[in-house]
Amino acid sequence: MHTGTTLTQFIIEEQRHIAGATGDFTALLNDVVTAIKTISNAVNKGALIGVMGALETENVQGETQKKLDVITNEMMIRHNEWAGHLAGMASEEMDEVYPIPNKYPLGKYLMVFDPLDGSSNVDINISVGTIFSILRAPVPNRAAAEVDFLQPGVKQVCAGYALYGSSTMLVLTTGHGVNGFTLDRDIGEFVLTHPGMKIPADTKEFAINASNQRFWEAPVQRYVAECLEGSTGPRGRDFNMRWVASMVAEVHRILTRGGIFMYPRDTKDASKAGKLRLLYEANPMSFIVEQAGGLSSTGYERILDMTPENLHQRVPVILGSRNEVEVVLGYHRN
Ligand code: AHG
Ligand code: MN
Ligand code: MN
Repeated sequence: MHTGTTLTQFIIEEQRHIAGATGDFTALLNDVVTAIKTISNAVNKGALIGVMGALETENVQGETQKKLDVITNEMMIRHNEWAGHLAGMASEEMDEVYPIPNKYPLGKYLMVFDPLDGSSNVDINISVGTIFSILRAPVPNRAAAEVDFLQPGVKQVCAGYALYGSSTMLVLTTGHGVNGFTLDRDIGEFVLTHPGMKIPADTKEFAINASNQRFWEAPVQRYVAECLEGSTGPRGRDFNMRWVASMVAEVHRILTRGGIFMYPRDTKDASKAGKLRLLYEANPMSFIVEQAGGLSSTGYERILDMTPENLHQRVPVILGSRNEVEVVLGYHRN
């Protein structure tokens, strides 16, 4: 018999500890979970249901969209627009704020998401994910404008990601630690399998796309060079390297066994401060990483303290094991 705590049970029990909780947030999270199960199913079926490959379209960031980018975006919208918990949504794949259709009631939360993270990996059957972040609407029950979404990451009510890997997992924080759930397809439920996830403070594993090396700034050049020097260099130990090109997979690895992940500021394109998006990627992941005892920074400032300038703003990201991120931040201060 199955006896594990299901996600539904977990969030209802969490809600009992919050004075004045109405169940609204719990219900919203339930809809997010349904969207994620639907996405997991589509990603898993893949070529069997004709969802692989690219479209002719580009998103607002000028990236070619995969079929699944658009399909998963639609799934997030359809499962979350109708229930009356949200005053608006914003996504990496939509130019502007998505208004809740008039036929549905408005709610007190905002949601932002990256419906399919690591989508360059879908056609080659490597892990992808979904990232989401829930904020409070400044004015409840009123259609949200762009400015309402421009809240610093410290204001997030909840952040989570789903990882569609060898198993499907959902990892969540509401500001009281980080918990991981694994989808049991036989019963259609996420079950608590990774309670109280903590990032080890030390690591010997780093992740960075080294093809950008010539564009990196001096502190990152120095850090990576010293890692590569290994036991004969100033760090006095050998390092291992990984690059999945799915941020969700990298963060999950770091939550599981430690590590440092960097998509740092570089000089590749002067119009972009980094590659990753503050609202859809950097903020939710930073919230999770900090709640698991890690650190997250641009190299110059804590990501969660930044006030976003616009929906699709990009930022440099350096996150992971506390002591290792501290080393990189020290080089930035010099
Ligand atoms: P997305 O698929 O949502 O556009 O995000 C991809 C992101 C991130 O997940 C990953 O770490 C990074 O871009 C990979 O970038 P490179 O292809 O430059 O390595
Ligand atoms: Mn992404
Ligand atoms: Mn994406």
